[in-house]
This record gives sequence, C-alpha cells and structure tokens, in this order.
Amino acid sequence: MTSTAGILSGQTAIITGAGSGLGQAIALALATDGARIAVTELPGKEHLAATTVAAIEAAGGSAVALPLDVRVLASIDACVDAARETFGRVDILVNNAGLNIRQAAFDVTEEAWDTVLDVNLKGLFFMAQRSARVMRDQAPAGGCIVNVASIMGLVGYKDRAAYCASKGGVVNLTRVLAYEWATIPIRVNALCPTFVMTPMTAPLLNDPIAGGDLLSRTPQGRFADPEDVAQAARYLISPGARMVTGIALPVDGGWTAV
Ligand SMILES: NC(=O)c1ccc[n+]([C@@H]2O[C@H](COP(=O)([O-])OP(=O)(O)OC[C@H]3O[C@@H](n4cnc5c(N)ncnc54)[C@H](O)[C@@H]3O)[C@@H](O)[C@H]2O)c1
Repeated sequence: MTSTAGILSGQTAIITGAGSGLGQAIALALATDGARIAVTELPGKEHLAATTVAAIEAAGGSAVALPLDVRVLASIDACVDAARETFGRVDILVNNAGLNIRQAAFDVTEEAWDTVLDVNLKGLFFMAQRSARVMRDQAPAGGCIVNVASIMGLVGYKDRAAYCASKGGVVNLTRVLAYEWATIPIRVNALCPTFVMTPMTAPLLNDPIAGGDLLSRTPQGRFADPEDVAQAARYLISPGARMVTGIALPVDGGWTAV
C-alpha cells in the first residue's frame, strides 16, 4: 500500500469550527497528512481552538488558532487574510462550522430559521467565496474545498425544517461552485455524514426511542464516529481524488442507499 504520510506537506488548510467535534477530528487528520492548519473558533471559544492547536503541535504538526464568526463578513475576511498571512497560502478549506435548532415545522421561529440558514448556508458560502479568491489569485493557483453538509441535505427528517433546508442548499451550492471554479482548478465537494456519536449527541443517540429510530434506518446498525468523517474528508482532499468534484459523499452506513 502507498504511504500517505505528508501528502499535504506545504499546504495550508482552514477548518472552521475546529475546536470540537467533527472539525477537530478533520483538523487532526489533515495535520497528520502534513497540512498546516488554521483552526477557527467563535470569538469567546478560543480555549477550544487552543486545545486543537495543542494536540496538533504535540503530534509534530503546525497550527494556528483564529477567531471566526461566519455570520459576519468582516470576520470572514479577517480570518482568511490571517490564514494567508500566517502560512503564505490557502490551499484547503473545510467548511465545517454549523448548528442545528430542533423544532417541529409548525413551531419554527423566524429567529431560529435565520440563525440556522445564516451559519450553515450563507456563512458557508461567503467563507468559500473569500477563500476561493485567495486560491484563484495565488501562484500556483488552485485549492480544494470540502463543505460539511449532512445526510439531512439528501433526505428529510422530522423537526429539522431549517437544518434540512440549509444542508440541501449546501449540497446544491457545492455543485455550482465545483462547476464555476473547476478550471482554476478548485475542487469543491460536500460530505454528508449520518448522525455522529459525540459527547454532545450521545443523549439523543442513546435514547432508545429517538436513537432507535435513527439506527433502524442505518443498514450498518451503528452511528458514525468523528474518525469516519475525518477519513472521508481526507480522501476528498487527497491528490487521489483529483478528478472528484461537485459530489455529495454520504458517510452514512448505508442510510441513503435504501
Ligand atoms: N454531529 C453530527 O451528528 C453531524 C452529522 C452530520 C453533519 N454534521 C455537521 O458537522 C458539522 C460539525 O458539527 P459537530 O457535530 O462537530 O458540532 P459542534 O457543535 O461540535 O461543532 C460545530 C462548530 O461550529 C462552530 N460554530 C457555530 N456557529 C458558528 C459561527 N457562527 N461561526 C463560526 N463557527 C461557528 C462551533 O463553535 C463549533 O466549533 C456541522 O456543520 C454539522 O451540521 C454533524
């Protein structure tokens, strides 16, 4: 088997919301491949970003913590500029920051709708736009973007009207960006994980009724773990995926296959 050690050496990756959960797992995986990582976190959550940076540095990698609120364009610009100034280039963007507010469709409030769409879709788009401008203008030009969507961008599920709308938007936005930026070349793909077992999701996923319903829809009969998602991101970013752009890759134990 070919060794993948160092396949991202010399490259810089911005990973949004990388102080916890999937973003942190992806940051650690890409650092293992040699990428220098800009770990972004919301202002006020710098301690979380610092934890990820420390873990990367302890493993011999290189990382910097940057504040970012994707709802604020000036914050996006400052973050992308800081990543470029720190490392000289921006080669990879993992648009991971996201949130969910669970409400039945009858109960969705305007505030909740706007929050979910602002972070998951609008913020993700402008992060991609600003990062891709740097990828276009640097020498040599090029880059790779992974948008973290969800199986909820491919199928519907109760209590997730805004979330499903946002993630469905991410999946189709990914296709547009892949098309427009293909010749730069910037590859743009979406990841669509199923439910991932983390300390935050454990109460829901371990609930016999709620979790049981989700498991019954999953042929593999298990939830994902952060490493499953990180390995899929690693593939999409790797040179081996050089012909892969515009896809939405389910990481779902078969949920969307049946
Ligand atoms: N956990 C799951 O089961 C699951 C499944 C499918 C997809 N996802 C997606 O994966 C991504 C990561 O989720 P997670 O489970 O690791 O959650 P998480 O809450 O651990 O991580 C989300 C990150 O986004 C950051 N964030 C939130 N609002 C932000 C904003 N306005 N600006 C910048 N950063 C912001 C948070 O600070 C946090 O670091 C999300 O996009 C989520 O929708 C998660």
